[in-house]
Amino acid sequence: MAKPTYILGIESSCDDTSAAVIANGKMLSNVVATQKIHEQYGGVVPELASRAHQQNIVPVVHQALVQANIEKKDLSAIAFTSGPGLMGSLLVGTSFAKSLAMGLNIPLIDVHHMRAHILAHFIDVEGQKPPEFPFIALTISGGHTQLVLVHDYFDMELLGETIDDAVGECFDKSGKILGLPYPGGPLFDKLAQQGNPKAFPFPKPKVGPYEFSFSGLKTAVLYFVQKNTAQNPNFIEENIKDICASVQFTIVDYIMDKIKNAVRDTGVNRVAIGGGVSANSSIRQAMVDAKTDLGWDTFIPPFQFCTDNAGMIAMVGQLKYERENFAGYELHAKARMPFTRPAEI
Ligand code: KG4
Ligand code: ZN
Repeated sequence: MAKPTYILGIESSCDDTSAAVIANGKMLSNVVATQKIHEQYGGVVPELASRAHQQNIVPVVHQALVQANIEKKDLSAIAFTSGPGLMGSLLVGTSFAKSLAMGLNIPLIDVHHMRAHILAHFIDVEGQKPPEFPFIALTISGGHTQLVLVHDYFDMELLGETIDDAVGECFDKSGKILGLPYPGGPLFDKLAQQGNPKAFPFPKPKVGPYEFSFSGLKTAVLYFVQKNTAQNPNFIEENIKDICASVQFTIVDYIMDKIKNAVRDTGVNRVAIGGGVSANSSIRQAMVDAKTDLGWDTFIPPFQFCTDNAGMIAMVGQLKYERENFAGYELHAKARMPFTRPAEI
């Protein structure tokens, strides 16, 4: 039997150091070291993130190989995130991947982080079928909010994105206003599930049909809390569940409006969501409802492939390996990488 193709994926674009091994479509390992250091600062501190990547990358890669039960010499190629992301963080993964590929004399494959979030839907997961092309992808996390029409693996059309904060940032910053620890999203969701989503109305920001804006909503939450605590110092304590439920309702309703616009205008009703915020219970419920009420086909990958992870990088690595689309050693990381079409894959 022919030796499988083993691709090592490396992800270091923000505050997660991750390494994964994929063999002919099957994920053998997906190790993620989440950097706890940022919690005390209420957000990611770029300088600390790159230092932590330096510390984590060797043990994380080692662990990914151990869990996959292979050795370095078995690897067929190294795939790594070349952008977009924090420059200091990207440089750690990029330099490491280059050195390892050079040392092993195997191909190097550069991966666009946002395309990888979308192609994570093609990771072979038992009991789940990937979306058929074309489909609409929504990537929602602490760093991203993008609505994309996916024509093919490497033919993606950005329909719209946030013009200011990402949706996860809106959850986290609203959580901070309410005194929740960073990142506020998961606890916000927990509290929201126990509250009344119609208790307090919040405005939905008006931008283009596929664009998002969240900074106005965050400010509306701040003013709402300031105004009410001036009259009642215990306002947050007494109403936190209803506030969370109302804000979450507004965010999810807003996101669904945007997807509905895209489905209406493209005629495509296959919708795939990814990114850390797709863990949100109201978004998941909205996806389930859209299936029954609107007849959409909806897709959410397992959570480990939604948040930043090297599994998705290895997946793209495999697709590019099959197409013999390799990078040269002169390639450099890029903090910004627009969604070009046709893709610079
Ligand atoms: O994809 P991710 O792990 O990292 C990046 O930001 O790239 O996403 C993290 C974001 C954070 O903003 C976090 O608060 C949010 O996802 N998040 C949630 C939930 N779980 C995680 N937001 C709302 N509801 C959740 N259940
Ligand atoms: Zn990401």
